Amino acid sequence: MNRRKFIKSTCLTCATSVGALWLLQACKSTKHVTNFQYNQNKITIQKSEFVTIKNDKTIQRKFIIVKPENLPFPIAIYKLNDNDYKASLLQCSHQGCELSPYETTMVCPCHGAEFNAKGEVTQGPAETGLKTFTTTYDNDNIYIQL
Ligand code: FES
Repeated sequence: MNRRKFIKSTCLTCATSVGALWLLQACKSTKHVTNFQYNQNKITIQKSEFVTIKNDKTIQRKFIIVKPENLPFPIAIYKLNDNDYKASLLQCSHQGCELSPYETTMVCPCHGAEFNAKGEVTQGPAETGLKTFTTTYDNDNIYIQL
C-alpha cells in the first residue's frame, strides 16, 4: 500500500467512526416530547419526560425536544442539574439552519458552529449565542416562557 492509499483509507475509517459515534449518541439520547401543554405563550412539560427506563434501569436524559406549532424551529431543553434547566431555540445564530442536539452540544450541519447546553457559542463561525427562553420549574413541571 502506498502512502496516498494509506492516508485515504485511514481518513475514511476515522470519518466513518466519528459519524457512527455521533449517530449512536443522537439515537440514544434524543426524545421528542409531544405530551406538553401550550397556553398563553407558555409551555408546560412534566419533569418525568427526562426519565426513561431501560432494562429495569432508570436513566436521566440530558435533554428533550419540544416543537410548538407556532415556532419555526424546535426547542431543546437541557437539564443542567436538578435545579437548572435551559431552553434554547434550535436555530443557528449564524445563518439560521436547524441545529442537531447531542448530549452536551448543539451542532450546526451547515457550517459547523457548535453551542453548549446553555446556548453559548463554543465553535464558530457563529458569533452570538442561541435564542433562549426563561425557564422555571416546580416539583412536577418545567415552564418555558416564549
Ligand atoms: S448556519 Fe450554522 S454555522 Fe452557518
